[in-house]
Amino acid sequence: MSNPLAPAPVVEHAGSIFEPCSGRAADVRVESAELTTQNTLGLACLAQHLVVLRSTAQLAGVSELARQYRHVFVLGGGSNVVLPPQLSALVLKVEFKGVALAGDVSDCWLIDVAAGEDWHAWVTTAMESGWPGLENLALIPGTVGAAPVQNIGAYGVELRDHLESVTAWNIPQGLLRTFSREECEFAYRDSMFKRAPGGTWLIVSVRFRLPKVWAPVLGYPDLQKHFGLGAAKAQSPTPQAVFDAVCAIRRAKLPDPAELGNAGSFFKNPVVSSVQHAQLMRMHPEIVSYLQADGQYKLAAGWLIDRCGWKGRRVGAVGMHARQALVLVNYGGAHANEVLALAHAVRSSVQEHFGVELEMEPINVAE
Ligand code: EPU
Repeated sequence: MSNPLAPAPVVEHAGSIFEPCSGRAADVRVESAELTTQNTLGLACLAQHLVVLRSTAQLAGVSELARQYRHVFVLGGGSNVVLPPQLSALVLKVEFKGVALAGDVSDCWLIDVAAGEDWHAWVTTAMESGWPGLENLALIPGTVGAAPVQNIGAYGVELRDHLESVTAWNIPQGLLRTFSREECEFAYRDSMFKRAPGGTWLIVSVRFRLPKVWAPVLGYPDLQKHFGLGAAKAQSPTPQAVFDAVCAIRRAKLPDPAELGNAGSFFKNPVVSSVQHAQLMRMHPEIVSYLQADGQYKLAAGWLIDRCGWKGRRVGAVGMHARQALVLVNYGGAHANEVLALAHAVRSSVQEHFGVELEMEPINVAE
């Protein structure tokens, strides 16, 4: 179907993304800062050496400064990290802003978005501007620059489906590079940026490719239920209706980090072979699984954790959420060691009951 929204781009020209990458160490100010409100789990963390980056003109200075540190850590929205109480690494907080229409080619719009933009605010801008495609990814916490690191995904859509390229600064080499989608080596909650040694890449901006001819992605069970399968076929919803549905579904299931500290799904959904899947099916016929293109099966980690009795269970200041067992929550005042201890206990239970290994989704930042 054609895009029902009239294109009326809301574009703020992002001079800062296009500034030349020059500058000296003098352009960069190091301070110590409390990061408790800068990570969605709400863990108390004192960063001893923090630099807030507002312009790409500071990047060369950052590379110079980084040589003095053993560890460098790039912080976006803090929505996928477990932070230690004291952080001695050089912390780079990315706050580049701007959204700019970079191209209007025959079948799509190309839009550059600076890394420090809030992800949900950008998705909202895209909706209002008549650039559909990202509606299934509404309300994901974090920044635009963090999104490619773990190839964010929800309700049948992943970032890679609408990404054209990523521009990133190589901190040790002091060079700016643009990576095509293929070069980013995206996989489920993974990319080459996530696999690279910490402190290598600082994402500066992301170029999106959003389709002029749009079709809703409604295959996910929660969306089918929301729209009613028959109705969705008879009358296709608008991008705004899908956006509203995704927001409503997420608000009903997932805790708002502003009210209850959390990092979204705390574990990835594990992928098992067809042989292991068949064995699991014999013992647990009701197990929730999804057949993958390569013949393997992705299991719903939330279901596994739930069946091990962790849903709604609290241990001190942390617990597994009562409406989504995959979400680890901080009831207030938790430390990284409590978070990691609970994660360890949950992993052990799932391993013991199902013989399946869970992998943590957030990055565990060492001191
Ligand atoms: N389930 C349970 N008990 C629970 C939780 C889930 O039985 O406590 C069952 C559900 O009934 C459903 C299945 O497990 O049958 C899957 O649950 P859900 O639809 O909530 O999705 P998910 O697989 O747990 C994934 C992503 C989410 C994303 C949703 C929607 C991962 C690790 N998580 O969750 O992403 O929003 O699908 O697409 O892939 C995130 O990464 O932070 C995140 C929230």
